[in-house]
Amino acid sequence: MPLIETAALVKEFKRVRRKEGAFAGVRTLFSRDFETTRAVDDISFAVEPGELVGYLGPNGAGKSTTIKMLTGILTPTSGHLDVAGVTPWRQRERNARNIGVVFGQRSQLWWDLPLIDSFRMIGRLYEVPKDRYRANLDRFVDILGMGSFMDTPVRQLSLGQRMRGDLAAAMLYEPKILYLDEPTVGLDVIAKERIREFVAELNRDTGTTVLLTTHDMDDVERLCRRLILIDHGKVLYDGPVAPLKEHYAPHRELVVQLAAETDVVDIDGAETVKAEGGRVWLSFDPRETPAARLIAAVSAKYEITDLSITEPDLEGVIRRMYLERESR
Ligand SMILES: Nc1ncnc2c1ncn2[C@@H]1O[C@H](COP(=O)(O)OP(=O)(O)OP(=O)(O)O)[C@@H](O)[C@H]1O
Ligand SMILES: [Mg+2]
Repeated sequence: MPLIETAALVKEFKRVRRKEGAFAGVRTLFSRDFETTRAVDDISFAVEPGELVGYLGPNGAGKSTTIKMLTGILTPTSGHLDVAGVTPWRQRERNARNIGVVFGQRSQLWWDLPLIDSFRMIGRLYEVPKDRYRANLDRFVDILGMGSFMDTPVRQLSLGQRMRGDLAAAMLYEPKILYLDEPTVGLDVIAKERIREFVAELNRDTGTTVLLTTHDMDDVERLCRRLILIDHGKVLYDGPVAPLKEHYAPHRELVVQLAAETDVVDIDGAETVKAEGGRVWLSFDPRETPAARLIAAVSAKYEITDLSITEPDLEGVIRRMYLERESR
């Protein structure tokens, strides 16, 4: 049984378009014109309990709009939505107990209160048993490294500190599902790493189901086993990361350090991309030339002192995919 299910989900926004021309600036009922944006245009997917899914797409693709419908903030224009047996926009309160939400751009914490007070209030609001509250808080303070700023008013926290606080707040009442909308935006590498570690651990140890939106491919590489890629409100891809990489970027690079300086490594099934002071970059398609065979062929002809194989990075793969779709 899927935990999150959407079917033919649509969200339209109507906006007043002001007409330019003779009556520009004069707003009457008649000069108004409505413009409709289909932010989410027929989206269907299902997420099983315990999955950690990346929900990705370019700016304006409809990611945040989808998440807002899943959290119950927005009502769908049409389509079906089920989150842990609840229709979010109809049963907002019941839905809220099942989900934790973190929007990178906006905080859910009480701005004027020390961080610890926000936690206490959330504990009371969600009626978290005292021992569970204590255990969760201790664990989160530890993993997220929040010990030094628990008594600081939220308004004085740095962005990275505040985000960690938001994440802990979202998980204190042990929701089944965690929605993360750009949780690492604007953070330094250390804060990003703490957040990734926290999400990975929650998913692994408590089986929390996670839907993650991000533009940071390191978040995705590190955390997501499955991706849903959307653009213009439609799903372009839904599946594991590996086949996507294979389809859009089958090539790998073999980087060899040779004992002698060489301009070109002449081997069947591989192309020299670059050569620099004995270091040579070779591009190959592992479906035609398995890496082991290539390495054997190179080392039979040249003396190798070091080597590595690089995978195509996900960012490049996704860029290629979107470009290909655009040009169709
Ligand atoms: N409240 C709103 N009123 C009108 N249009 C909106 C509203 N919210 C979103 N939109 C429009 O819906 C589309 C999808 O927006 P959405 O915020 O879901 O994109 P996104 O995928 O989250 O993008 P980003 O990566 O920039 O966060 C955009 O064209 C946006 O302008
Ligand atoms: Mg967004």
